Amino acid sequence: MVHGFALDKVNRPESAHTVPGGKGVNVSRVLRTLGVDTIATGFIAGSAGAMIEHGLTNEEIPHDFVRTEGESRLCMGIIDPENGTQTEINEAGPNISEEDLNALKDKIISLLPSADYIAFCGSVPAGIPDDFYAEMIKTANDAGVKTVLDSSGVQLRNGIKASPKIIKPNTNELSQVAETEIFTLEEILDGAKTFRTLYGVETVAVTMGRTGAMVIRGDEAYAAKSPEIEFVSAVGSGDSFLAAFMAAEMKGCSLGECLEWATAAGAANAAISGSGFCTKEMIYALKEKIVAERICEA
Ligand SMILES: Nc1ncnc2c1ncn2[C@@H]1O[C@H](COP(=O)(O)OP(=O)(O)OP(=O)(O)O)[C@@H](O)[C@H]1O
Ligand SMILES: [Mg+2]
Repeated sequence: MVHGFALDKVNRPESAHTVPGGKGVNVSRVLRTLGVDTIATGFIAGSAGAMIEHGLTNEEIPHDFVRTEGESRLCMGIIDPENGTQTEINEAGPNISEEDLNALKDKIISLLPSADYIAFCGSVPAGIPDDFYAEMIKTANDAGVKTVLDSSGVQLRNGIKASPKIIKPNTNELSQVAETEIFTLEEILDGAKTFRTLYGVETVAVTMGRTGAMVIRGDEAYAAKSPEIEFVSAVGSGDSFLAAFMAAEMKGCSLGECLEWATAAGAANAAISGSGFCTKEMIYALKEKIVAERICEA
């Protein structure tokens, strides 16, 4: 955190912390907070990779990564509360060889028999084919594991075509895939229905930042407004939302309740710094303030 962050000068943070990151790791972190068993997987490399493994072990987040050549990427987020800005500097990360890619595919396949859900989260490094998530979603669907996709760009576009059971785009990601600007709840609902009809996606949850979120499944659709919070940073709010949505679904909650838990976790994450570090108490307290409203016969 740097008060009055400025270009072309030496900035000295008042506080700083280094934590394992990545969308999938954030989802795992919130699942653990909510008492759900999880394993984080993906690629790690070099000394940064060792730090990630060490950090996750300290947080008691189970992990099983594929080691590659090079260094895991470092991402720096600079929060400036004075100007209300958040500046992100994200490295590219190492290129992935075909051998490493096959090792990750084998790893995922080996994890499927013990999984109820598998979530494919975030962007992919260079060297990964455009249909990677799509191929893995198909494999996991065939194995009877519930597939979840939270990505963007081509991995989301291709991944949707493999019929993941749940997708969680934000409005930008939804607009990208729909190839048109989507703003209103009605437009979001139309977009969600298109994915259901065209690609057989069962549940489409769309997050809209501080406005809230909506979800559609079968003939049900709900919308929830985000509760007021003291805003710190919303990076990872979508990951927190997704984890809480999955956790609620696993516990047998109704669709409306799943949306309430998810919206509460997204908001709880936005009230703290870091991604996925919201506590169970924060999530439970915010859940009390959220009512999902049925919006239509979808
Ligand atoms: N400023 C905020 N105040 C309250 N709740 C928020 C705020 N920002 C986000 N949220 C909650 O978190 C949910 C997810 O946020 P958002 O739409 O920003 O996800 P996202 O863009 O996928 O984020 P990320 O990919 O960084 O995890 C929202 O639907 C909302 O419930
Ligand atoms: Mg997101």
